[in-house]
Amino acid sequence: MIDLYKNPDIYDQLVPWGLREDEPFYLASTAQIKQPVLELMAGTGRLTIPMAKQGVNITGLDLSKEMLAKAETNAKQAGVNIPFIHGDATNFQLNKKFGLIIIPASALLLLDSKESIEKCLKCAKDHLLPGGKLIIDVITLACIEKTPRDNKFKTHRYTSSSGKDVDVVLTDFQYDSAEKLFSYNFLPQDTVSGQEIRRDKVTLKMYTPEELRALLYQQGFNISKEYGDYSRNPFHHQSMHQIIVCQPN
Ligand SMILES: C[S@@+](CC[C@H](N)C(=O)[O-])C[C@H]1O[C@@H](n2cnc3c(N)ncnc32)[C@H](O)[C@@H]1O
Repeated sequence: MIDLYKNPDIYDQLVPWGLREDEPFYLASTAQIKQPVLELMAGTGRLTIPMAKQGVNITGLDLSKEMLAKAETNAKQAGVNIPFIHGDATNFQLNKKFGLIIIPASALLLLDSKESIEKCLKCAKDHLLPGGKLIIDVITLACIEKTPRDNKFKTHRYTSSSGKDVDVVLTDFQYDSAEKLFSYNFLPQDTVSGQEIRRDKVTLKMYTPEELRALLYQQGFNISKEYGDYSRNPFHHQSMHQIIVCQPN
């Protein structure tokens, strides 16, 4: 487990709620669902909480106890009650089934091997109600090609608990094409001194669009929709995201 996922307060500052364009997509995807919904790798509730607020019967599962504790605090502050479950997305048994399971924010790529993804998809399939769907959402290799290597870019600014203004910078983009590992650092820095406050490395195991589709087919899923962005434009080879809606065959 990377350090960032043991520091949920930092996570909530570095990956700010409200700046991400995936939220309207998931709110629209769950708006009409009457059956329970499960978010795997749910983190601090960035998406589960707005969904619960719109009346979705949502459960969140995550491996980090720290992220879950913060999710509970965030949910309480938002006035919603969400079951947050401690569990491994590659090996869980909840004794409950869902009409929709979602794995947003490229979280699937945090699993370190093809085998882990297979296990995760199998568990997800076992937890779907008849007619239930799975949505997975990952960044693409085309997105990495467009990422400025050796460059830094600032994503946003926040005020820390000690009252200092902090710029969040993404930096040190690297792609190991042999291992298909994409990594970068979150680098919060003091806006006045420019001093680095901490450095959090995120590593994603990348797949081609075809590999991801093959993994789903092998685990018994049929793909019904494939989008290239959160506005639901069709997927094409230059798409920055691969967002797949699928169901067990
Ligand atoms: C990028 S965050 C996404 C959190 C949330 N879905 C969001 O969009 O803000 C990835 C999350 O996956 C969790 N995670 C990593 N490996 C996991 C695993 N094997 N099982 C369950 N959760 C896992 C981490 O603890 C972290 O909270």
